[in-house]
Amino acid sequence: MNKKGLFITFEGVEGSGKTTQINLLSSYFKEQGKDVTVTLEPGGSSLGKTLRKMLLNKNQVFHNLKTELLLFYADRCEHISEIIEPALQKNHVVICDRYIDSSYAYQAGGRQLKKLWINNLNSMIEKTPDLTFLLDLPVEIGLKRAEKRANLDRFEKESLQFHNRVRNGFLEISKTNSRIKIINANNKHPQEISIEIQQYLKELDI
Ligand SMILES: Nc1ncnc2c1ncn2[C@@H]1O[C@H](COP(=O)(O)OP(=O)(O)OP(=O)(O)O)[C@@H](O)[C@H]1O
Ligand SMILES: [Mg+2]
Repeated sequence: MNKKGLFITFEGVEGSGKTTQINLLSSYFKEQGKDVTVTLEPGGSSLGKTLRKMLLNKNQVFHNLKTELLLFYADRCEHISEIIEPALQKNHVVICDRYIDSSYAYQAGGRQLKKLWINNLNSMIEKTPDLTFLLDLPVEIGLKRAEKRANLDRFEKESLQFHNRVRNGFLEISKTNSRIKIINANNKHPQEISIEIQQYLKELDI
């Protein structure tokens, strides 16, 4: 197989430190002389920027939660074709902030939609990450960090129960998926977490 690039995703509840860790890991790879593409969902593609505004706008109303689910997948399809696949073809390390596991955690876990629907939508998604880091911590701690930002988005404003279902959703899919590495992101300095991630990559010969 002529496999190119490396596709890493970061997952976790609000404020779990994804953006912080992605920036640290990106610097680590760049220091090794690797080309890195950092991207995110929703909103990594050109069309995705508009979709992101809709999906995160706290005043946006969806009369049917399947609409929300489908918009996330529309965003993902564009993102793969416009950004992820071309970067992998150029042999880049692609680091993506949220991906398919967030759909399970938020739409099946949080929103309590059928997991089967997400499985079906995933059958259209041709890119599976090589590796996923799940930054895990109690949702109250993540939300407290996120609250420091000025405006909470449509998801951040959800109840504690919602966010706990999201966290449990992430933990559940991790059990049956060896691609996902759970990292305890509580009570640790960002550098300490980054070193743990780098050590895990070294163990995998990456
Ligand atoms: N290990 C850590 N310990 C304490 N604070 C942290 C740690 N990592 C990140 N933070 C801080 O917590 C806040 C949220 O971090 P960050 O934005 O990286 O999380 P996130 O998972 O990307 O959040 P979101 O889901 O909202 O995008 C930031 O202010 C960041 O500086
Ligand atoms: Mg972030």
